[in-house]
Amino acid sequence: MYILFKNCRIFTPVDRGVPCGGNSQGELASFPDGALLVAGDGRIVAIGEEHEVTKEASTLSKVKTMDMQGKCLIPGFVDPHTHMCFATRREAEFELRLAGTPYLEILKKGGGILSSVRAVAEATESELYEVTRKHALSALKSGTTTLEIKSGYGLNTESELKQLRAIGKLAREGVQDVVATFLGAHAIPLEFKHNPDEFITLVIDEMLPAVVEQGIAAQCDIFCEVGVFTIEQGRRLLKAAQAQGMKVKIHADEVHDLGGAGLAAELMACSADHLLAASDENIRTMAAHGVVANLLPATAYSLRKPYARARFMIDNNLPVALATDCNPGSSYTESMPFVIGLAVLNMNMTPAEALVAATLNAAYSIGMADKVGSLDVGKQADFLTLDGDSPAILAYHAGVSPVQEVYKKGVRVV
Ligand code: NIG
Ligand code: FE
Repeated sequence: MYILFKNCRIFTPVDRGVPCGGNSQGELASFPDGALLVAGDGRIVAIGEEHEVTKEASTLSKVKTMDMQGKCLIPGFVDPHTHMCFATRREAEFELRLAGTPYLEILKKGGGILSSVRAVAEATESELYEVTRKHALSALKSGTTTLEIKSGYGLNTESELKQLRAIGKLAREGVQDVVATFLGAHAIPLEFKHNPDEFITLVIDEMLPAVVEQGIAAQCDIFCEVGVFTIEQGRRLLKAAQAQGMKVKIHADEVHDLGGAGLAAELMACSADHLLAASDENIRTMAAHGVVANLLPATAYSLRKPYARARFMIDNNLPVALATDCNPGSSYTESMPFVIGLAVLNMNMTPAEALVAATLNAAYSIGMADKVGSLDVGKQADFLTLDGDSPAILAYHAGVSPVQEVYKKGVRVV
């Protein structure tokens, strides 16, 4: 059984086996009279000009044809950085921030991430699952077919594993592809306030082995920031994670230039994320070591900080990906179209660069590029139709999602 999606305007990144940096960041293949042929297992069998794909389909039996009515078709979004597994929102904290209290000041006083930690400690696994599922479904409606979800509101073995199990349940349902990340070092628990090194030792000696043994997270992350963890603590933890076979990434240089971007390069991490304050030198070093820059413009927007320097990064051949950072504190959104709009209008990325960032480069940054991120033969037929003529509509139709239909492995899910 095959499905032939005919009569579509296709735009897709070109996967050359590495993340797209420099000029290739803005390269899209386009087929104005395009078609897509999908096999029964949800994989792409052919893509390109309609007459050629139709010819290929004619050699097969059992082909169902779908007329896409000339719609614009792009790959499903890959959101490579979210914290959507939490128990409660933090609206009161948002008001505090609006009134001028800095984000890190709230954390220092035991609020922020630490208030989410208290809420997760009290929540059951099924409550966490329900909240996570609600956010993942909202993301799906705006076109996210693959996403990463972090733990990090546990900060002890029991709670971190509870979060990762809730994320794992969602992953097994298979509505979206979900990559789980262990973020046990997201904040210093109050009990370790005067001894963060001891907390890192606990993460390495107790939490990490439990996570590895249960095989419930593919990646390990840490928040390196003033008042949170140092670069040296990041190095200790992430080297231990790599030694146990995990991929690593870093919340790097979000507020202060501590050098997280440099550490990501040193460890050849799959990504360094945030980078609002990253130095020129470390940006260049990241590019030389094949690290993807995961930029989170909705966080800069919500924290009212200067945006990450996407243009400088692209001009220095550093592949840029985009993510929502969906979390109850610094960025409460599941919408990749919103993030793309911010990237285009506030970070001067072209719509094509932003689309590559939100699909193929994002897939590379979470180790999923062999399956998703571009419409290529052999990859999953995860795609969207847009109410517009080109990917520019994602930024142009401001505040409104132009995503009309969402397909996962060739099946319409929205
Ligand atoms: O990526 N910066 C650290 N972690 C998240 C925010 C988490 C929270 O505030 O709950 C971020 O911005
Ligand atoms: Fe984050």
